[in-house]
Amino acid sequence: MEWCLKQPKIELHAHLNGSVRNSTLLELAKVQGEKGVVVFADVEHVIMKNDRSLVECFKMFDLIHVLTTDHETVTRITREVIEDFAAENIVYVELRTTPKRNEAKGMTKRSYMEAVIDGLRSVDTVDVSFIPSDLNRENSSRYFASNDNGITRRRIFVRLLLSIDRRESTAAAMDTVQLALELRSLGVVGIDLSGNPLVGNWDTFLQPLLFAKDKGLPITLHCGEVKNRKEEVQAMLDFLPQRIGHAIFFEEQQWKQLKQSKIPVEICLTSNIRTECVTSINNHHFADLYASKHPIVLCTDDTGIFSTSLSREYRLAASAFGLGEMELFQLGKNSIEYVFADEVVKKSLREIFDSATPKLPL
Ligand code: IMP
Ligand code: ZN
Repeated sequence: MEWCLKQPKIELHAHLNGSVRNSTLLELAKVQGEKGVVVFADVEHVIMKNDRSLVECFKMFDLIHVLTTDHETVTRITREVIEDFAAENIVYVELRTTPKRNEAKGMTKRSYMEAVIDGLRSVDTVDVSFIPSDLNRENSSRYFASNDNGITRRRIFVRLLLSIDRRESTAAAMDTVQLALELRSLGVVGIDLSGNPLVGNWDTFLQPLLFAKDKGLPITLHCGEVKNRKEEVQAMLDFLPQRIGHAIFFEEQQWKQLKQSKIPVEICLTSNIRTECVTSINNHHFADLYASKHPIVLCTDDTGIFSTSLSREYRLAASAFGLGEMELFQLGKNSIEYVFADEVVKKSLREIFDSATPKLPL
């Protein structure tokens, strides 16, 4: 575990509101309890519950959204999530979140994202590099950066993905894509399609996703999370997104197509097991994809919801699939090739990993 903690790591599948600390959720629930918005005792029980089915996860997200949806709180949770990732030596993260409108709070999708970006600016335990146009800064960056006072701190690269929720309409999804295009200069690098996989239709999102593709925005899709979605999985594979998340319920021919296409898969082991989408770690498709040398990236999905961390996911992969330090290191390093950030960032990441290469035993 210590080795997994110390290694530089890349996180490509993390949902902001799924990664909130339990302590923060409890604190927020207390405040909302005092205002009569929630009943604290009920909420406390739900927050502290450890194993959740897929359906329960989505109920939990609705609750979290009640607790977090004002600008100040969005800024706070973004700061804390990035600080937590940096504390376990994550050197690059693509944080994804669903821009939300909330008239009662005067929140638009844009002001929600501004609150997220304020969160990135407010991190003070580590240097956060998120503005792509700041080329010189990113180029000169390695593990460390000096601030104006000459104080040297560790550095984390952060990029943002805007999520389209499967509950949304075509028009709402289009608004999200437009916003992503407008915020490219502030670190938005792509689009994600997520939300309850039992809700919504692929057709609803096709037009906005094609528009994003046409504008050169990379796309990652939650794909094959639940059974009996053969047509949808097929349409998603035919769409040729830059990455997919999960990839569980595929037909034989679809596995073949996936492997031929070489679309990288974001693998979230604990999430898949906790939600019972995969019956046990021994049946997880990681083993087959790894053996086939298919591009894969270990990710957390929701560190808060599933009480995990990227280091724990690495340790789990090591113990379940018999990977040694060198194999784990290489697996992590390969992720550089699948990030949505530009070549300047990739070059910095290669340098970081090269300087951390484990020594082979003599
Ligand atoms: P947010 O986008 O920051 O609000 O993060 C929470 C949201 O991410 C949830 O409401 C879902 O839409 C999405 N999400 C998180 N985990 C999963 C998952 O395992 N499958 C599909 N969607 C998810
Ligand atoms: Zn996810």
